[in-house]
Amino acid sequence: MARHLITSAIPYINGIKHLGNLVGSQLPADLFARYQRARGNEVMFICATDEHGTPAELAAQKAGKPVAEYCAEMHDVQARIAQGFRLSFDHFGRSSSPQNRDLTQQFAKVLAENGLIREVSETQMYSKADGRFLPDRYIEGTCPNCGFEDARGDQCDNCTKQLDPVDLINPRSVISGSTDLEMRETKHLFLCQSQLKDVIAEWIDSKSDWPVLTTSIAKKWLNDGDGLQDRGITRDLSWGVPAQFDGAPWDGMEGKVFYVWFDAPIEYIAGTQEWADSTGGDWARWWRTDAGAQDVTYTQFMGKDNVPFHTLGFPATILGSKQPWKVVDYIKSFNYLNYDGGQFSTSRGRGVFMDQALELLPSDYWRWWLLSHAPESSDAEFTWDNFQVSTNKDLADVLGNFVSRITKFTRSKFGEALPEGGTWGAAEEALIADLNTRVREYERLMEAKEVRKAAMALRGIWVAGNEYLQSCAPWTVFKTDPEQAGAIARLALNLVRIYAILSAPFIPDAAKTMLDAMQTSDDSWPGEIGAALEGLPAGHAFITPEVLFRKITDEERDAWQMRFAGTRAE
Ligand code: 2FM
Ligand code: ZN
Repeated sequence: MARHLITSAIPYINGIKHLGNLVGSQLPADLFARYQRARGNEVMFICATDEHGTPAELAAQKAGKPVAEYCAEMHDVQARIAQGFRLSFDHFGRSSSPQNRDLTQQFAKVLAENGLIREVSETQMYSKADGRFLPDRYIEGTCPNCGFEDARGDQCDNCTKQLDPVDLINPRSVISGSTDLEMRETKHLFLCQSQLKDVIAEWIDSKSDWPVLTTSIAKKWLNDGDGLQDRGITRDLSWGVPAQFDGAPWDGMEGKVFYVWFDAPIEYIAGTQEWADSTGGDWARWWRTDAGAQDVTYTQFMGKDNVPFHTLGFPATILGSKQPWKVVDYIKSFNYLNYDGGQFSTSRGRGVFMDQALELLPSDYWRWWLLSHAPESSDAEFTWDNFQVSTNKDLADVLGNFVSRITKFTRSKFGEALPEGGTWGAAEEALIADLNTRVREYERLMEAKEVRKAAMALRGIWVAGNEYLQSCAPWTVFKTDPEQAGAIARLALNLVRIYAILSAPFIPDAAKTMLDAMQTSDDSWPGEIGAALEGLPAGHAFITPEVLFRKITDEERDAWQMRFAGTRAE
């Protein structure tokens, strides 16, 4: 039995994510986790909320809540929605957990002991009224480029120019509105990533099987970006992991916290510790190569914007510790999903957000469209037209229709049990040969994490069954040879069970309905298809399920397109 450690990039706590976020990390990670479990392998699937940093502080302020309270509430909201999408995390943690605080501080300590941390003095905007340093996003003022009055310290939302807070005309504090700001000196800890450049470059070079998207971004940053310059890992904020070691502040770091991107990936490990603490499980055998993790295959899933932090930043932390931590084996990254001719926009409410999606249709509909259109080789686009066509064809016409036709036919002619008699002939032999090839190819694509191609292979498997049924036409055969019609029905009902098992990673709810309808709990992965087709014997009782997938009407399509065009207030 193989062992798979699987992590999805951890979503920021500030707000509900859109479908583009979902398909960029959590959903494909879930597909892979479900597949590996279905193959009988041992899986540890970890995700969490990313709770530190200025976005969390600002969102809490906007919601008028203490940041800890805001994060606790939003974590529950995100956890509930994740359940709605059937994301099968073994643990959905929180980067603000005590486990992550301790582990982050331990990493900083060992990096310092290894001579990889140094102190740097900088000047930064300080607000006397607020009694604190202001990070870029906490400063607003007039844009020097276009005159927009509410430009942020890091960027002008009106003309998109990247800014430095000192560029702003009449800068003011977002917290208090105070304009009594001055530049003051402040000290920060820097991680000496430059010392690790060769080790990391060599490690990336050794990954010839990684997606080009992953390695090309990593190499670009290594070679011509500034990815492996030393980088500040502390911030002048109060919300975060305190920059302390063994319970005492590092000299000169009082009141500072670690940068959110330093502690976020550490939460993959700390989340596993949270899991262990709540279940009595053993986290170390997943993460420590001196405690069993040398046998683990570790796969990370993320959007392309996260690739630099996972190919350079987090490995610098791990390798720089010189401790026996498990290093990632494969990084699967995704391009962006666009929305109906533009981008999803959280601030303008453009596009479908996860909570809204579940109000419209059950999760399987979304899972199927998103995974079968995953933005792998290039950016992809969600359109309502395409969503309607693909749902109505793939799910309703192909899979749903197959299940409904064969169960209804059998019930009407033989009753709700698999018919006896008849024999397999050339058509059945041909179908079995075809399915054997297709299923092995599907397995290969799932192992390779080729999400879109795997979806197409699965669809091909559904189509093959449909075509078999269409051409063998048991409803016609029944008139002259009822026994033979019974043999066809028996085979097709067995196919319903096989389809349920193969489809479960993509559409877990429909798969369960199918397996329940076949009244079996035997969900063992099909090996040779001829043998698998004899899983349910003649006489085995089944029930005819409700419609598996309904069609999306033109009216719904048009109404939904209007509704999500971008009006929701921020
Ligand atoms: O881009 C994001 O949404 C980040 N919150 C991802 C963090 S992934 C990891 F490092 F934990
Ligand atoms: Zn501007």
